[in-house]
Amino acid sequence: MALQCTLNRYLLLMAQEHLEFRLPEIKSLLSLFGSQFTSSQETYGKSPFWILSIPSEDIARNLMKRTVCAKSIFELWGHGKSPEELYSSLKNYPVEKMVPFLHPDSTYKIKIHTFNKTLTQEEKVKRIDALEFLPFEGKVNLKKPQHVFSVLEDYGLDPNCIPENPHNIYFGRWIADGQRELIESYSVKKRHFIGNTSMDAGLSFIMANHGKVKENDIVFDPFVGTGGLLIASAHFGAYVYGTDIDYNTVHGLGKATRKNQKWRGPDENIRANLRQYGLEKYYLDVLVSDASKPSWRKGTYFDAIITDPPYGIRESTRRTGSQKEIPKGIEKCPETHVPVSLSYHLSDMFFDLLNFAAETLVLGGRLVYWLPVYTPEYTEEMVPWHPCLQLVSNCEQKLSSHTARRLITMEKVKKFENRDQYSHLLSDHVLPYQGHNSFREKYFSGVTKRIAKEEKSSQE
Ligand SMILES: C[S@@+](CC[C@H](N)C(=O)[O-])C[C@H]1O[C@@H](n2cnc3c(N)ncnc32)[C@H](O)[C@@H]1O
Repeated sequence: MALQCTLNRYLLLMAQEHLEFRLPEIKSLLSLFGSQFTSSQETYGKSPFWILSIPSEDIARNLMKRTVCAKSIFELWGHGKSPEELYSSLKNYPVEKMVPFLHPDSTYKIKIHTFNKTLTQEEKVKRIDALEFLPFEGKVNLKKPQHVFSVLEDYGLDPNCIPENPHNIYFGRWIADGQRELIESYSVKKRHFIGNTSMDAGLSFIMANHGKVKENDIVFDPFVGTGGLLIASAHFGAYVYGTDIDYNTVHGLGKATRKNQKWRGPDENIRANLRQYGLEKYYLDVLVSDASKPSWRKGTYFDAIITDPPYGIRESTRRTGSQKEIPKGIEKCPETHVPVSLSYHLSDMFFDLLNFAAETLVLGGRLVYWLPVYTPEYTEEMVPWHPCLQLVSNCEQKLSSHTARRLITMEKVKKFENRDQYSHLLSDHVLPYQGHNSFREKYFSGVTKRIAKEEKSSQE
């Protein structure tokens, strides 16, 4: 109760993209900055307007230095369901909290922001004039004001049913914008080294935020590819390390992904990608290594493991073999020849990944990864689990009418004892996610194609 009294109200203006990812991002960042998400937060599902109660403007500013899901944050001075309600709420806002921003030698500007409706200039001016009861004493400066205030009107989510009057009206002092511009400045289109499965910049930043990556952390990606996920973590000040089974990817060799280029150029590699963004000092290393056979000594090394394992759709799910593992009936290779490539079932891959994360993450460290699912058969019970890892969030991104990938975030909450203790998790009756073994087959199956075709023709 004592904590409640010291909380201030802020209005978050959320981006209308990746809706399911927004709440876990904001929750993760608040906990990173020592605050928390409480029941007093009002997140209104799909709405772009969320009210947050947090202890300080510093936390609000820190949040905005990280979020890609929120556009802006405002100190909330008033809120109502009609102009009258808004004005009476503004009249109740403590004057002593307003005065520092309204004094005679300050400059200011008032902006009108509407969601799901466009107002004429005349309508906007009317709304500004109606606020003259507020004790503004400074000068208006439209170009470079010291303080910016906003009226934000919410006309709901349905573009086919726009109400005459807004459902909600807010007034607040603008504090800061989020990091939406990173989506453009780190766009894969402009990146030096890319591959078929390079992770989209916006999602990479969301993953780093779900993973609570912070300065001086060590972040690992066991399926590193072109290092898209390492770039986002390095941008937030973490030292990054990765492995991949593909020699050409790690060494930046082989065929280029860009249309008008045949072979990869001399300096197309992960290190050069980090250099492109001024982040080379965060590069630890990348190695050719098979995630099914980690070569790490027992210990806790990583603050976060952030990864996008292969689903076998645009890249193969392979692992190195051994003499012992060669299926019966196949002639054995000479003793010296080991790297037989075997197929790597998705269920084995996720078992290995969770076990590896449980062993090598520091306590409180996070594992963030994508789980492919065949949506008609998906249930929450299919999400892989481990006794040392607690599920933090599970968000869906649709890929097609019948397939999706889910962004899973887990936190290490218990010390890893020893490998043998967890080996039973792979046995059939405890393994919750055998379904994923068949993801690839289902993706390519006639069933999926037929359904997609039927859906298409029914829409025509
Ligand atoms: C989806 S891609 C990762 C893309 C990456 N996030 C990026 O931004 O470029 C998966 C990667 O896993 C690698 N891979 C497949 N099997 C592996 C294994 N057994 N061990 C390590 N890496 C593996 C593939 O070579 C591929 O580069």
